[in-house]
Amino acid sequence: MNSHSFKTNKLPNYRLSIAPMMDCTDKHFRVLMRQITKKSLLYTEMIVAQALHHSNNRNKLLDFDEIEHPISIQLGGDNPNLLAEAAQMAEDWGYDEVNLNIGCPSPKVKSGNFGAYLMGKPKIVADCIEKMKNSCNIPITVKHRLGIDNLDNDNYLMRFVDNCSLAGADRFIIHARKAWLKGLNPKENRTIPPLQYERVEKLKNNRPKLIIELNGGINTIDDCIQALKVFDGAMVGRAAYSHPFMWTKIDSIIYGQQEEYLSRSKIIKKVIPFAQKHLENEGRLWQISKHIINLIENIPNAKIFRQELSEKSQTQEADISILKKIAQQLEDAGH
Ligand SMILES: Cc1cc2nc3c(=O)[nH]c(=O)nc-3n(C[C@H](O)[C@H](O)[C@H](O)COP(=O)(O)O)c2cc1C
Repeated sequence: MNSHSFKTNKLPNYRLSIAPMMDCTDKHFRVLMRQITKKSLLYTEMIVAQALHHSNNRNKLLDFDEIEHPISIQLGGDNPNLLAEAAQMAEDWGYDEVNLNIGCPSPKVKSGNFGAYLMGKPKIVADCIEKMKNSCNIPITVKHRLGIDNLDNDNYLMRFVDNCSLAGADRFIIHARKAWLKGLNPKENRTIPPLQYERVEKLKNNRPKLIIELNGGINTIDDCIQALKVFDGAMVGRAAYSHPFMWTKIDSIIYGQQEEYLSRSKIIKKVIPFAQKHLENEGRLWQISKHIINLIENIPNAKIFRQELSEKSQTQEADISILKKIAQQLEDAGH
């Protein structure tokens, strides 16, 4: 098969995305990240299609704020009908894209035989993508690894991607390391198998018409710039979660936007109305503060600010005044 057999997909407007991360990329983190980058694509945590099907609280699972656009929902599952139903729900709910998780090696995912396990099941994957594609009109993208266990060579990878593309996948995000389903836990699977960017590059060279984004170990804006010389997009995970403030210049550097860089205190002030709404809906402040804390680093007394925010946010009566106070203190200290 040559690359002319594949349709040419349209490049999206965004070239950078913030990776889906369980227990991290909830709506509070996304709202925070959206203050930092207006243009980049944000992902939800993985939502299992079966859970969505059975849930009597879909609103809670699907909820996002208008300002989060562009936003992709990441789905997990291996049942084509349930995934198609979930994709349709996602479109109806207003998501911009649907992403299928074929990269996660967690025990939960393994016991359900989806996530990275699906890299060994190309026929099921094709069926899932085709049904999802037919159920909605928004892009269906796939996030996957270089391989799993012994299914880990360039030919297999290329056939896997071809297969997804022919089934209708619009874009590929490749975490540039394999996953060992047998023998490594999820955390080890994010560090131990080496990153192999050259294998993703080879794939891109062999399939120039496919839209391929690089993920894994992109830790700085400069890393993004380097990745974008070769790939159609760059996806950042841990470095965005743990060091959100580091990315404040991303829109001007990557997208040429002439926007004012927000300070830490301004970012927190912009998040306050969302936090207020959350508290009015019986949410708790620490659910938001746990993300905001990561903004406060690389400044004098960062540890003291962080500790204060953390401790005060845990209490039963924690309210918005805590965020206001910390924002004011940071502003007074010139941050
Ligand atoms: C805490 C955590 C949770 C993650 N959860 C998911 C997930 O739900 N779905 C997924 O596709 N990848 C998940 N990942 C993997 C990331 O999306 C990303 O592929 C990986 O961290 C490599 O990118 P990075 O080096 O930029 O962090 C998770 C990673 C972390 C650290």
